[in-house]
Amino acid sequence: MARKIITVSNRLPVSASPGAKGVVLKRNIGGVATGIDSANLGADALWVGWPGVSSSELSPGRTREVSRLAGPGLCPVFLSDTEIGGYYNGFCNSTLWPLFHYFPQFAEYDERFFDAYRKVNEKFAKTVLKVAGKDDTIWVHDYHLMLLPSLLRERLPDAEIGFFLHIPFPSSEVFRMLPGAAEILDGLLGADLVGFHTFDYVRHFAESVRRVKRIENSLGVFNVGSRLVKADMFPMGVDVKKFSSALRLASVKSNIRKNSHLFPANCRVILSIDRLDYTKGIDKRLEAYDLFLRENPDWRGKTVLLLVAVPSRSEVERYKTLRSKIERTVSEINGKWGTMNWEPIKYLYRSFSFQGMVSLYALADVLFITPIRDGMNLIAKEYVASHPEGRGALILSEMAGTSRELGEAFIVNPNDIPATAGALRVALETPPAERRRRMEAMRGRLTRYDLARWAHDFLDKLRATKRIQSAMSSRALSKKVAGEIVGKVGAGKNSIALL
Ligand code: G6P
Repeated sequence: MARKIITVSNRLPVSASPGAKGVVLKRNIGGVATGIDSANLGADALWVGWPGVSSSELSPGRTREVSRLAGPGLCPVFLSDTEIGGYYNGFCNSTLWPLFHYFPQFAEYDERFFDAYRKVNEKFAKTVLKVAGKDDTIWVHDYHLMLLPSLLRERLPDAEIGFFLHIPFPSSEVFRMLPGAAEILDGLLGADLVGFHTFDYVRHFAESVRRVKRIENSLGVFNVGSRLVKADMFPMGVDVKKFSSALRLASVKSNIRKNSHLFPANCRVILSIDRLDYTKGIDKRLEAYDLFLRENPDWRGKTVLLLVAVPSRSEVERYKTLRSKIERTVSEINGKWGTMNWEPIKYLYRSFSFQGMVSLYALADVLFITPIRDGMNLIAKEYVASHPEGRGALILSEMAGTSRELGEAFIVNPNDIPATAGALRVALETPPAERRRRMEAMRGRLTRYDLARWAHDFLDKLRATKRIQSAMSSRALSKKVAGEIVGKVGAGKNSIALL
């Protein structure tokens, strides 16, 4: 029987919520799960993940309804309020997320959070084991599930297990601040292949394994007991064709037309769009826009910053404070520079459908993306994919993993406010031919290494690693047999006859 691929991630590509007439299931937009969902891993692929709702909001009948509605390909893992508190809001988003994004001052270390993380990883393992055959390929995603590879390895010693981290892996100096650092590495080393977006993250991981676990590596290959584990770089791509095709849809075309009428004629649209998160640098971006308006009176009245903040993790206190801060700054800037017929910032706190996002990308003259730290940033890639005609300009933080591939963007250090303000002017004033040259170069690269290529590249490398591993273990076996022979030979002539 053919191997099936089992994807495991914190979120399923759908979210459930209790409605008046039963459970309502909605496709998620954006985020890792949506990205992987488009990678199309085969008809018999399975997906294990959380449907995004607390089980306390669903009666037992309703959890069964979620499983039924989700269909045979999706296997929900239900989490209680306590589990969501300790695992998702706690260890994942109040410990790992800030630490891995170089905000160690925000990281909370609480043994109860780590305990909840262990228990939830164990719960995911149980669900995977219910559906996995011993030869299946299991692909685990992201920081929520870093203990899962070794939990699965204990029960399925021969399975192909891959792990991909979608956020940065920090320098070993930062990583070793984490209580439980060794346990996390043990968890990851249960995989055959551990993937990261950039070479720097691979390097940081290898150095952490060396310092914390005292395991050396040769070109990203580690000997873990009798197993071989490989760490490598796979920069996640986007489905470029999906964006070009969406641009041809009548609904998207009419959306773009309608939206463009909302802005004064001759006004350039600068788009800023991210989940509302402190790692995204939205507050510093606003400071830079404010400085740009102060220094460039000729651009006042001729640009609008369309600031879209997508609601995220709104139960974590730090995200609530950030939201109030951003909303205060937006109204200060609008109050300071606005006139009766021009508002410098149009602010939206909401998410958009896929088609809505494409319409925004296509409308924007500039995409302004300046995270303080970001594993990859697919928004930047989606914007480039939505501009086949090469119109547009991308201002991108050097702290985003994407900046390694999108060198033709206007690259800025997000902490350097004057330079970021300067980049706005440069991006707006660069002649169209030069903007097109830059956009086309980036688009070419994204088309060559798109989402499907990323997924297949990872899975091919996983298979190759497994093959080398099996070859090694058969050599190890013959070494063992050889050892026995030598032992028996040493014990006396007669023993040779016994072999
Ligand atoms: C980041 C993580 C993803 C996550 C996404 C949305 O991109 O790497 O794993 O899905 O944020 O965050 P949320 O907490 O809403 O799942």
